[in-house]
Amino acid sequence: MSDKDGSQQLWTGRFTEATDRFVEAFTASEHYDRRLYREDIRGSMAHARMLAACGVLSAAERDAILQGLEEIREEIERGEFEWSPALEDVHMNIEKRLTDRIGEAGKKLHTARSRNDQVATDIRLYLREAITLIRCELLRFQSGLVELAEREADTILPGFTHLQVAQPVSFGHHMLAWYEMLVRDQGRFEDCARRLDVMPLGAAALAGTSFPIDRRMTCRELDFSRPADNSLDAVSDRDFAMEFTAASSVLMTHLSRMAEELILWASPMFGFIELPDRFCTGSSIMPQKKNPDVAEIVRGKTARVHGHTMALLTLMKGQPLAYNRDNQEDKEPLFDTVDTVRDCVRAFADMIPSLETRPEAMYNAARRGFATATDLADYLVRKGVAFRDAHAIVGAAVRHGEETGQDLAEMDLETLRGFSATIEEDVYRILTLEGSLAARDHHGGTAPAQVRRQVEAARHRLTALRLSASP
Ligand code: ARG
Repeated sequence: MSDKDGSQQLWTGRFTEATDRFVEAFTASEHYDRRLYREDIRGSMAHARMLAACGVLSAAERDAILQGLEEIREEIERGEFEWSPALEDVHMNIEKRLTDRIGEAGKKLHTARSRNDQVATDIRLYLREAITLIRCELLRFQSGLVELAEREADTILPGFTHLQVAQPVSFGHHMLAWYEMLVRDQGRFEDCARRLDVMPLGAAALAGTSFPIDRRMTCRELDFSRPADNSLDAVSDRDFAMEFTAASSVLMTHLSRMAEELILWASPMFGFIELPDRFCTGSSIMPQKKNPDVAEIVRGKTARVHGHTMALLTLMKGQPLAYNRDNQEDKEPLFDTVDTVRDCVRAFADMIPSLETRPEAMYNAARRGFATATDLADYLVRKGVAFRDAHAIVGAAVRHGEETGQDLAEMDLETLRGFSATIEEDVYRILTLEGSLAARDHHGGTAPAQVRRQVEAARHRLTALRLSASP
């Protein structure tokens, strides 16, 4: 190893002066990419085994490398490993330590590989596991929603469009709408995991290697489905990372929308739900306050994940093939996305099952909002009135209700008949919120009976998802 200036770097052979101190710190990534140490060691072990099987390393060299790497892993986990920014990144920190420990054999580990295929492999291994963990957390959240949906299938919530009361819906139906959004998020992560399941090792710096390697063997060792088909693409592609943050952004947008509803519903002006105290905080000045901070933070964290998605897209957009050092900038956005998404899903998975509903407040809000106006129009249509005429008749009844402070169901028959003589005594059955809900009794509708059917279907789907999420 060249050591003309006492530096630790592994590539100084062609250099005549030491790296500028600032440049050394500026280009180093070990302070964040050390997080990949397990994947890096795993990849190196597979590579060493393969090199030995192909006759590039002796069995003794292989064994020394494997044992050395194992000991380094333990050293890192005990917190005793000395990380050095002068060694740039996780890869060279570990390689240098290996050579310090086992000598010559350590220097041979990097045969037939480059940090370019090494880091691409590490990130894929890392992300594969991160996706599994996120998917498991999502499953927990989804199960909680399904339980809540069953518990609250008969609870009547005013459904909104334009944040104006529209028609009554089952609270359980609303929870299942959230559940459906997450089913699609699961699909996006599953997709992403499938596409990243390609192994870059063997691509070396960009063009492959002149050594007789066995990429199928490394693939099996690392549990990838197949080796990458093009070495240039293998070292430069980061679209699996963009895809992951993009899927995360969609998920975060979903969580943010849920957060917004929780915040509104928990406000005393709505008073539809009560969030558990342990998920809320108080105000340092206003004693009456109980703030829905967890939901607000989830809504806020959405911004940083969207930022990371933009960062990765922009990071790649000007890069020529193949590897460029720009790629080193992929890790912090990626790691932060993984942490943020896991925490946010966990917060909701923990909080939602213990949310309490206030059915009376929801019921009153639905009544005040003339939520059964469409039901009255449909009733008139069934009696032979054209829909547009029915719409106008009910509009007039609603105006009257607003003037007199009455819901449609509170008007007597004579008053209602003043708007249309086709209205008869049986109208009161459809003017109730319960009647309105029960009438929407088709696949995807909000009738409590349909909600219970969907709960059953969701339980089956969750079982299937559990199988596809586990590694
Ligand atoms: N630390 C780099 C990265 O994260 C890997 C090293 C590749 N460096 C190089 N000079 N080719 O992408």
